[in-house]
Amino acid sequence: MSNKVIINADATKGKINKNIYGHFAEHLGRCIYEGFWVGEDSDIPNTNGIRNDVVEALRQLNIPVLRWPGGCFADEYHWKDGIGPRENRKKMVNTHWGGVIENNHFGTHEFMMLCDMLGAEPYINGNVGSGTVQEMSEWVEYLTFDGESPMANLRRENGREEPWQVKYFGVGNENWGCGGHMRPEYYADLYRRFQTYVRNYGDNRIFRIAGGANVDDYNWTEVLMREAVHMMDGLSLHYYVHPGGFWDKGPATGFDEEVWDITMQKALFMEELINKHSTIMDKYDPEKRVAMIIDEWGAWYDVEPGTNPGFLYQQNTIRDALVAGVHLNIFNQHNDRVQMTNIAQTINVIQSVILTDKERLILTPTYHVFEMYKAHQDAERLDLHLESASIKTGDQEIPQLSASASKAQDGRITITLCNMDKREAADMVIDLRGEEVSDVAGRIITADKLDAHNTFDNPDQVKPVTFDQVQLHGSELSFALPAKSVLALTIR
Ligand code: AHR
Repeated sequence: MSNKVIINADATKGKINKNIYGHFAEHLGRCIYEGFWVGEDSDIPNTNGIRNDVVEALRQLNIPVLRWPGGCFADEYHWKDGIGPRENRKKMVNTHWGGVIENNHFGTHEFMMLCDMLGAEPYINGNVGSGTVQEMSEWVEYLTFDGESPMANLRRENGREEPWQVKYFGVGNENWGCGGHMRPEYYADLYRRFQTYVRNYGDNRIFRIAGGANVDDYNWTEVLMREAVHMMDGLSLHYYVHPGGFWDKGPATGFDEEVWDITMQKALFMEELINKHSTIMDKYDPEKRVAMIIDEWGAWYDVEPGTNPGFLYQQNTIRDALVAGVHLNIFNQHNDRVQMTNIAQTINVIQSVILTDKERLILTPTYHVFEMYKAHQDAERLDLHLESASIKTGDQEIPQLSASASKAQDGRITITLCNMDKREAADMVIDLRGEEVSDVAGRIITADKLDAHNTFDNPDQVKPVTFDQVQLHGSELSFALPAKSVLALTIR
């Protein structure tokens, strides 16, 4: 079957919220410590303790929003342990992640400073599992209240006169699991109670995010929407791609073709999840006021041999570039309900965009996909119809291609395409209707080997290169899209 993409360039389908390109950074393994934070006394070049090379690389992605401090860590984090002079901060055991000692050197002020350096909005996840209503309420007061109050005064004592603006606030994390093993009815009641005290101070308006479902737990979404729809702005959803299942995820490198196909199939499953959870949300919120916030997603494999099993450090290959490209296309296509997503996790944990080794840093294939797709941020989605050949995976079939398209304010059109086939190129025709095409520029990321990746000794093995194979006939574009590739076309 031939592959065809029809794009109606004059039919826009709403804005692609830039927050779809968000990130997640937890106190887990080497994400915060070593990844972002090295401390002011480090030999690694830093600004107030935060690595300069990391900030520079992430600024290229225009990261719109950063979620912190967890994850599972959020429900055992007590924010007051992470403020004040660093040498006096209380230490704690990070029981979820390797049982290591957390010295709390990276806390509220450091996180807000990091967001400032990145130009990203903070998304703070509060503690419901082991915290109190008062503690959550006081955190919001500490962050955002301008007047005389115990928490605002404490903030001033700690060197910050002005309140910060904090929009996104999560009320607990995975409350069905590490966040308290609750039943949805119980969490829905707790959510209603906790969010009551997450106050709007001054002109700061908080967007309240309720802890959502694990994968296909549709009953969780049903109960939360039924019991608390009018008290939330967003409802989260978590889904990770584990090729071999949660208990036997499989390695990040050195896998075979069958595992490649399973990974693609599991990446595509995100679409079914969005559709089914959206249908439930539509029942209680037909206007789509409540956003779906997919604040954890990514491909999660076995840790690299010899590394701490609790640190979730894994390599990142061309397979992960496809996983990222497919997810981001799906999110773009569901821009009516999906208003934010956060890949897990930015540095050194699960599907990272950056890996570090002491003073060295590499950009992963996933980083490059985020960079290639960034023109979609806040652009208008374009109506797109995809006819794709299929790939047989065991007794199932999946499409060979994934695609999305958008038009930026300056009129530039971006089309992103993934060819999930591990061997075959795809003969492509793109019919761009309603647009005069004068110039097409392309960038592609691809590789020969299934597990091609960057290493600290060979950091540029997998990176985007110019793609100049597009033939233009009027407003029709044709080309062969190589196997295992992600392509971004810019059309003027
Ligand atoms: O991202 C790693 C962990 O995955 C998070 O802490 C948790 O929320 C999820 O189970």
